[in-house]
Amino acid sequence: MEKYKVMIIGCGRVAVKHLKAISKNARKCELAALVDVSEEAARRLSPDAAYFSDYKKAIDEVKPDIVAVTVPSGLHFEIAKYAMEHGCNLLLEKPMTMSSSESKQIYDISKSTGKKIAMGHIYRYFPIVGLVHDDIDDGKFGKVTHGSIFVRWGHGDDYYQSAAWRGTWKSDGGALMNQTIHAIDLLVWLMGSSPVEATSMISQRKAKIEAEDLGMAILKMDDGSLASIEGTTCTSDKDKCAEFSVFCENGTISMGIRKGKPQLNIRDINGKKINGRYITRQIKKGGIGSLLGAANPHTAIYEDLILSLDTGKEPVADAKAGYTSVDNLMGIYKSAKTKAVVKLPLDEDFSSVDMTGFFGG
Ligand SMILES: NC(=O)c1ccc[n+]([C@@H]2O[C@H](COP(=O)([O-])OP(=O)(O)OC[C@H]3O[C@@H](n4cnc5c(N)ncnc54)[C@H](O)[C@@H]3O)[C@@H](O)[C@H]2O)c1
Repeated sequence: MEKYKVMIIGCGRVAVKHLKAISKNARKCELAALVDVSEEAARRLSPDAAYFSDYKKAIDEVKPDIVAVTVPSGLHFEIAKYAMEHGCNLLLEKPMTMSSSESKQIYDISKSTGKKIAMGHIYRYFPIVGLVHDDIDDGKFGKVTHGSIFVRWGHGDDYYQSAAWRGTWKSDGGALMNQTIHAIDLLVWLMGSSPVEATSMISQRKAKIEAEDLGMAILKMDDGSLASIEGTTCTSDKDKCAEFSVFCENGTISMGIRKGKPQLNIRDINGKKINGRYITRQIKKGGIGSLLGAANPHTAIYEDLILSLDTGKEPVADAKAGYTSVDNLMGIYKSAKTKAVVKLPLDEDFSSVDMTGFFGG
């Protein structure tokens, strides 16, 4: 059986995780080529792989089955569009694009071409998350009252200075858009309802960047539940942590990650911890090794995309998830900018570039 040919476009920090994930899925896929404007970056990632500096030439010549889009976020739109229009499926890093209209276009192209997109929304692929999602969806926890997340993903000046695009409105956005968007996606997915209103504030506390390093938001959902969001890079870079909680009539689910270690706190209506049930079910479903999935969730994303190509099923974090998460995020930014409650989904385009000058400068 032929293996799926994968091309990585963008050979920086996250591409290392993609390369590992491709090798973990070596039975079904193989690296066909690397693309980067910097040959040094590509050679550092894999000295012997075929190398291209121009993504269009690379796609035209190699005709990969899967393109991993791992360039700065401001370039996602043009590369994702070109790749899909030239026959490729995508493993597209988050955020899908920098504006709601561009993300809608990518979603529409995926629908019209039938090309699959698996988003780099790693949190959906953490162990136990899928089981919890299905149980909430099946009503096992009763009505969802509210949810909350925090993403305290500390970064120092060295991170922001490591590449010129980081923290800019045009190519990255701030802590909400870069570090928190996939957590917002997870919370909305787990709660099983859709945001209808966003209200938010953003601030600059520490980082010397254009965009926010601290943001807080509240989403009102279509079933009346509320979701609270805190995303920041101001905290210690030695203590990165994120937590997702969903509160229901019949129990509370809290999951997260701290210093790379998964955290779990699932309780029934009496406050009794029921983690064990979920750990047992996860082992039954994916083997004991699947409990370690948080170490490199990209492996599970590749596995899921390959399954999608083999069977036609949609990936767990699909094109729609990519589009709606950007639309929700743009609503959050728009609320911060206009100091008003913003209706979701947005009825007109909003882009992170529309935030230019928010903090002056
Ligand atoms: N899902 C996750 O957990 C996760 C984690 C980190 C980053 N990301 C996302 O991945 C993307 C990349 O982030 P990173 O931290 O790896 O960035 P990075 O700056 O480390 O790497 C980006 C690479 O893209 C290359 N590049 C720039 N322009 C290019 C072009 N036109 N053609 C080809 N290559 C080009 C750069 O030379 C660089 O090597 C971002 O969108 C980011 O949000 C996702």
